Amino acid sequence: MVVTKELPGDRWLEILKQADCMVEVCVSTDVLRVSEIKDAIGERCDGAIGQLTEDWGEELFAALKAAGGKAYSNYAVGYNNVDVGAATKHGIPVGNTPGVLTETTAEMAVALSFAAARRVVEADRFMRGGHYKGWLPTLFLGELLHQKTVGVIGAGRIGSAYARMMVEGCRMDLIYCDHHQRKDLEDYIAFYAEFLKSQGQKPVYCKRAASVEEVLQEADLVSLHLPLDNTTHHLINRERLGLMKENAILINTSRGPVIDESTLVAHCQEHPNFRAGLDVYEDEPDMKPGLSELDNVVIMPHTGSATGWTRQGMAVLAAGNVAAILMGYPAWQDPDISPFLSDDLPKAAPSIVNADEVGVRPFMV
Ligand code: DGY
Repeated sequence: MVVTKELPGDRWLEILKQADCMVEVCVSTDVLRVSEIKDAIGERCDGAIGQLTEDWGEELFAALKAAGGKAYSNYAVGYNNVDVGAATKHGIPVGNTPGVLTETTAEMAVALSFAAARRVVEADRFMRGGHYKGWLPTLFLGELLHQKTVGVIGAGRIGSAYARMMVEGCRMDLIYCDHHQRKDLEDYIAFYAEFLKSQGQKPVYCKRAASVEEVLQEADLVSLHLPLDNTTHHLINRERLGLMKENAILINTSRGPVIDESTLVAHCQEHPNFRAGLDVYEDEPDMKPGLSELDNVVIMPHTGSATGWTRQGMAVLAAGNVAAILMGYPAWQDPDISPFLSDDLPKAAPSIVNADEVGVRPFMV
């Protein structure tokens, strides 16, 4: 069993050991190349846990299969780095780690929203640089979020959690765009609006937009929460940035290539009152030229899910996926994965994205 990076906590290791796995952990902190992972897989490997920075395609799944591999899990909820079709072709179930990073990643999007709106990083640099000479009426004027409109593009688990935080925290109106109507989110906001009305306060409202363009035009703050695929690559391009308010704020904690990053650099250079908060980049770990010089952009090193609790939970889910498949268990069906965080693990794989295709039977209670 190969794990391509050291993972936090030790519960995940116990789970693999209970499945009789001998675990080989790659200790390098560098991004591993396909050839290096192939070497680690070697001639005998029952399963693997890999990272979002690695290219899990035909070459690696063929190598894993040839080594007797039966399961793979990404140590991430997103799996745009995995060619699921190739894994399926080799009959290998692919796991991911949803449910433990919802609030954590939403909180990072909130942190970036406030940091961008109130110019926190820029002002921190100013203080450390010894430039503060005393209070001034015009020093670091930012944007007030209270009672403005927040736009969410992709209102799945993380997008909905972010929306609730901003609506409740700042009484913002919400406009969201998603393939599905998010009834739970709409009901939640309607309920909150009723509460505000009952207190004699201005209610909030929630609108499902017909298009991405509508969100970009109407919102003061826009946060992206989409998986990366062919339909979302460069979704935010020059034309769409041009639709946004001149002083809008754009947040991305999803995947870098959802934004055409060079275009964003140009847009931020041309519109000094426009702000962005980014946790992800098109060519990670690199940034497009000019991005790091912009004062109106806050940049983080893809740490949206980086809390101890979440990263340990992700390790438990990834190990649980591989261990369960090796033991012949079925695939968990409920989006609530919290039973896997208890001491008494369900006899199921927490999240297998190609379960139907590779014939992993569903878990029945
Ligand atoms: C994910 O899980 O997809 C995040 O980007 C990293 O936690």
